[in-house]
Amino acid sequence: MTQHILSVAESIRTRRTVRHYRQDPVPAAHLDALLDLANEAPTSWNLQDRAIVVVSSAEGRAALTLATGGQPQPQEAPVMLVFVAEPGSWRQDHSDVHEQAMRLGAWNAEFSTGFGAASEAFQLGLEQRGLLREYAVKDAMIAASFVMLAATELGLATSPMNGWDEDAVKKAIGVDGREDLAIALLVSVGYAAAEPRHPGRRDRSRVVHLERYRG
Ligand SMILES: Cc1cc2nc3c(=O)[nH]c(=O)nc-3n(C[C@H](O)[C@H](O)[C@H](O)COP(=O)(O)O)c2cc1C
Repeated sequence: MTQHILSVAESIRTRRTVRHYRQDPVPAAHLDALLDLANEAPTSWNLQDRAIVVVSSAEGRAALTLATGGQPQPQEAPVMLVFVAEPGSWRQDHSDVHEQAMRLGAWNAEFSTGFGAASEAFQLGLEQRGLLREYAVKDAMIAASFVMLAATELGLATSPMNGWDEDAVKKAIGVDGREDLAIALLVSVGYAAAEPRHPGRRDRSRVVHLERYRG
């Protein structure tokens, strides 16, 4: 029997936040696919200013359990993904990104030079307004969203997690005290031990505004 592969729309509609997991491990090929797809997520100015720390060891998950105030996901899910935002990444060398884009024919030399200069000016503006962290977190969140949908397609359950102590999460992943990094989101990955129902959404008419924000 061939397995039905979920469409993107089906993944979006059937994904639920799953808080309880079976002990079955996440197959290595599935984890590999998830990480590859996360890396496909777009980033502002193609800065690729986010990292994903894969935590599957008992010690690592115990540390994340503490960091999340004892929530069940890190205790039960075989894999925890920690999405790390890198707000200072724009100051580092991105010549590899430019070279790759040119090699792939996506950018030419002129575009690369102009884009690099414009990006730097944009990032300086963000720095002045104290927004670098916020922008890097946005990029990390998009990667996390891609992972949750890709996991759903593979029959895996996930839970996004915001409820944690940032310093404790940093400690758990070996970046204790690193002020230049921000934790964006934790995502648990595994096989569901519970089938939560859809909690529903407000009516679309309340969410979608035409031309101008109402209210
Ligand atoms: C950014 C974000 C952070 C969240 N943090 C937690 C969390 O720390 N613990 C938890 O159990 N659920 C967490 N959730 C799950 C939400 O409670 C859940 O998405 C919401 O109730 C809607 O349910 P659904 O995801 O099944 O549609 C988080 C969701 C989001 C989007």
